[in-house]
Amino acid sequence: MDNEKMIELVGLTKTFSQTTAVNNMNLDVYRGEFLTFLGPSGCGKTTTLRMIAGFEEPTAGQIILGGKNCEALPPEKRDVNTVFQNYALFPHLSIRDNIAFGLKLKKLPKPTIRDKVEQAICLVKLEEHVAKKPSQLSGGQKQRVAIARAIVNEPKVLLLDEPLGALDLKLRKEMQLELKHLQKTLGITFIYVTHDQEEALTMSDRIVVMNRGNIEQVGVSEEIYESPRTRFVADFIGETNLIAGVVTIKGAGFTQVESCRKRYSIEGDYPYRTGEALTICVRPENIHFTRNIADVGNYNCMEGIYEESVYVGNMVKHILRNPAGETITINRLTRKGEHFEPGQAVGFCWSPKRAVLVDAQAGPT
Ligand SMILES: Nc1ncnc2c1ncn2[C@@H]1O[C@H](COP(=O)(O)OP(=O)(O)OP(=O)(O)O)[C@@H](O)[C@H]1O
Ligand SMILES: [Mg+2]
Repeated sequence: MDNEKMIELVGLTKTFSQTTAVNNMNLDVYRGEFLTFLGPSGCGKTTTLRMIAGFEEPTAGQIILGGKNCEALPPEKRDVNTVFQNYALFPHLSIRDNIAFGLKLKKLPKPTIRDKVEQAICLVKLEEHVAKKPSQLSGGQKQRVAIARAIVNEPKVLLLDEPLGALDLKLRKEMQLELKHLQKTLGITFIYVTHDQEEALTMSDRIVVMNRGNIEQVGVSEEIYESPRTRFVADFIGETNLIAGVVTIKGAGFTQVESCRKRYSIEGDYPYRTGEALTICVRPENIHFTRNIADVGNYNCMEGIYEESVYVGNMVKHILRNPAGETITINRLTRKGEHFEPGQAVGFCWSPKRAVLVDAQAGPT
């Protein structure tokens, strides 16, 4: 990834009659970057991709590809290829001919086509299957053909819309790593779409979290997970505890928040003002139990009523309810010394460094 801008989206907007699918999107995508659009169903991911590819005309705004406004360019004239979720392979053509199709259309010399196709086949490890038809391949193999068919054209940008959606979990995880390695080997800019947050965290250089046509946050995986800037991002990415509070002191490098009639200190500089309502987010792995219930009088310790525990293999999940009625989940690696009865009062704490503040519960948007 370098500093050269490959794609610039400027005020990009798409409206379908009543629905604003994409709302004033501003984003730069850099050369060689693996960028992921992540968000729930209907948030505008596919529409954004289709506008970049040229299949959909923006209602407003611009798409700048390699420094040039591409408003008037039809899809085939853009230096962009798309891999769709349903692969869209030609059933009557062999795998080799499927991959060669685009190059034949471009009327490249036969030896050039042969070399490029062989290279692409090697990259996606389909050497044994070149003579087969798509119907004779597994889902993962078809996926590889779709990717080979796109990369053989050597596009500057590859757009991938939920390309692993049809695969089972194990294959999906294998393909995630393969795709990421392939992208780094080729140095092509990838714009990837998924609604699976784990997939986005695994694969991306940067993640664009979308919600209802708007960008909520752009950042590398760690930023998105560790420092969500909105309640939506905190809630959508991974598991988190959301505790409502009000700012009592805004100090230098920390904010004090009142919740359930106790004070909590959170490290960091936040734009919230004294008296403002907000949400404390603490990941379940960042909370521990306190042996002494009297600790609850201290900063960042709260009391809850124990409900249940669930053993999920690599950890134990404890579920409690705090005095405000909010559900608190605490993930612990073992049960050692931590056995509680339903209905029991239990104290739990977190470090001021391990919590973040986001906006208060938004009303219906
Ligand atoms: N051709 C269309 N006509 C009318 N509305 C559309 C059209 N295409 C998309 N929309 C609407 O635009 C919004 C965004 O759709 P889009 O397909 O971009 O979502 P998405 O993020 O890709 O969702 P998913 O994860 O389900 O694929 C949705 O509300 C959808 O109903
Ligand atoms: Mg979609």
